[in-house]
Amino acid sequence: MVNKITDLAGYLEKYRQSVADPEGFWAEIAESYQWQKKWDKVLDWKFEGESAPDVNWFVNGKMNITENIFERNMSSRKDQVAIIWEPNDPKEPEIRLTYGELFDKVKQFANALLKLGVKKGDRVAIYLPMVPELAVAMLACARIGAIHSIVFAGFSASALADRIIDAEAKIVITSDGGFRGTKSIHLKNIVDEALANCPSVELSVVLKRTEEKVHWEEGRDVWWHEIIEGESTSNDAQAMDSEDILFILYTSGSTGKPKGVVHSTAGYMIFAEYTFKNVFQYNDGDMYWCTADIGWVTGHSYIVYGPLLTGATSIMFEGVPTWPDAGRFWDVVDKYKVTHFYTAPTAIRALIAQGDKWVVDHDLSSLKVLGTVGEPINEEAWRWYHDTIGKSRCPIVDTWWQTETGGIMISPLAGITPTKPSHATLPLPGIQPILVDPEGNELKGNSVEGILCIKFPWPGMLRTTYGDHKRCFNTYFSAFRGLYLTGDGAKRDEEGYYRIIGRIDDVINVSGHRIGTAEVEDAINQHPKVVESAVVGYPHEIKGSGIYAYVICEDLSDREMATIENEIRDTVNKFIGPIAKPDKIQIVSGLPKTRSGKIMRRILRKIGEGDASNLGDTSTLLDPGVVDEIISGAKVEVKR
Ligand code: WT7
Repeated sequence: MVNKITDLAGYLEKYRQSVADPEGFWAEIAESYQWQKKWDKVLDWKFEGESAPDVNWFVNGKMNITENIFERNMSSRKDQVAIIWEPNDPKEPEIRLTYGELFDKVKQFANALLKLGVKKGDRVAIYLPMVPELAVAMLACARIGAIHSIVFAGFSASALADRIIDAEAKIVITSDGGFRGTKSIHLKNIVDEALANCPSVELSVVLKRTEEKVHWEEGRDVWWHEIIEGESTSNDAQAMDSEDILFILYTSGSTGKPKGVVHSTAGYMIFAEYTFKNVFQYNDGDMYWCTADIGWVTGHSYIVYGPLLTGATSIMFEGVPTWPDAGRFWDVVDKYKVTHFYTAPTAIRALIAQGDKWVVDHDLSSLKVLGTVGEPINEEAWRWYHDTIGKSRCPIVDTWWQTETGGIMISPLAGITPTKPSHATLPLPGIQPILVDPEGNELKGNSVEGILCIKFPWPGMLRTTYGDHKRCFNTYFSAFRGLYLTGDGAKRDEEGYYRIIGRIDDVINVSGHRIGTAEVEDAINQHPKVVESAVVGYPHEIKGSGIYAYVICEDLSDREMATIENEIRDTVNKFIGPIAKPDKIQIVSGLPKTRSGKIMRRILRKIGEGDASNLGDTSTLLDPGVVDEIISGAKVEVKR
């Protein structure tokens, strides 16, 4: 396979080359793609100044990512399986789509979209369950140059509407419903509710999945199966500039509403494939399964784009790890003889809690490589994954990256980089991490801990935040001059290995999902009885972090007091979705504030952790008495 590192010396050499001559390094990789027109210049960039970031890779190149998935691979892979779809219900048959079949479906749906009037640059919101048509829809958008904005189908109508409005999407692609475990979720209803507030949307395409009855809006709603009827399977790919937008994906931050992270075409393509094949060390004939949902970046880069560009076979799973029972993952591994398995630490911890009896009956001998993503993996979970799942013979790749980075940044290369529990280890070639102190001074050498930044552009990085470039600068490039701020703290240990500690901003990582505290507070504050709230994360055995909300309410009667917690949870569910529901809610009469009115979250975090023995300096508090009240009413046992 081209551009694949095969041993540690090769990694070290490529890394050295990528820092000494980044343009030469990436140009060599880009050579193996199908270009309609080659680039004039490999890289133009600026991380500083008002217009930053201004990053252009493969300047003036013309290409299409789907030509590089399909046309480029077609001669050798037409009959090879591209996607295996494993349904929620194991009694339903699976679907296997070869590269040839998937290509036809993509071209056919692309033609249908064109006929509906979708043009290059239009935004298409996709709100679908994990069905093969989700991959078809996104690739069809890419084929015609429409920008996909996929919204995880667990988000509420209000969260979906926010994203549609921000992207000014012209069309929404959805389904009647979706299956997850024993539940059937009425996605079309949720879309109907969202669209009441989305004037930009002209059309919605509806796929049949659950066959339940749906409300129909004549003139706006069209059935997927009707619009593809009679549509041809020939379609020429739209010529895309290297820097044309491929997709938008919304993600949460410290402040405000979620931002639309913008990824461009050529750089993302090259980065997704390069990182996939090198980190996982995928070989022809392997069977790769990433358990993520395509609604998150992990699914974009490592279920669809990375594997399909590589020509891999990628499994797409509709269900949940614990239904029909807690052995489902291992059933699927056994059924398809999975060689590469990629999941989140939260799933591993949840399965540990169910006991080993769900693992032992399955044949896991096909496994060769295990991966984790989304949050720090604690040593206990790493050991269980390594010993009980990998039988101590499979390397674990602990992959650190972000929605904004487009692909994996720091990770072992499977079987090449010696691993160490809870360490993401070393940067990939082309990635230049740097640790700084809060003043922005570089922390040199090993055995240091600081704020993780990246000092040089890489092809898969975000280019802007949709509709608001200034926000991109403020969020990522204003803290430290000339550096991309990741928002994570990290250690570089005595061997030079990176260990990611976790977020240093007001973002909580709940079960590997990024949740902004401000967003949850805004949702809680929508409840008519709520005056003010403050949300922090606290250590949670399975989720990594749980959500702890301190809430001030208007006077509540005893009856209201009895139901308020559930009502607050319902409110958050309504404005964001179930993933953001607070685990603990404490009704308080005041919040610890400074004289200038700023909430001292540090104190609330400490109390949530159950440790008030060292609250630090509280002398600036307006009313120190509230701290005692909060401690005595805390939802955890607090050490004083
Ligand atoms: C945040 C990014 C990357 C795709 C899924 C999440 C945390 C991610 C690791 C890891 C420790 C990790 C970071 C990061 N994170 N991977 N291997 N070890 N922490 O993407 O929603 O954009 O979240 O997830 O805190 O900043 P995301």
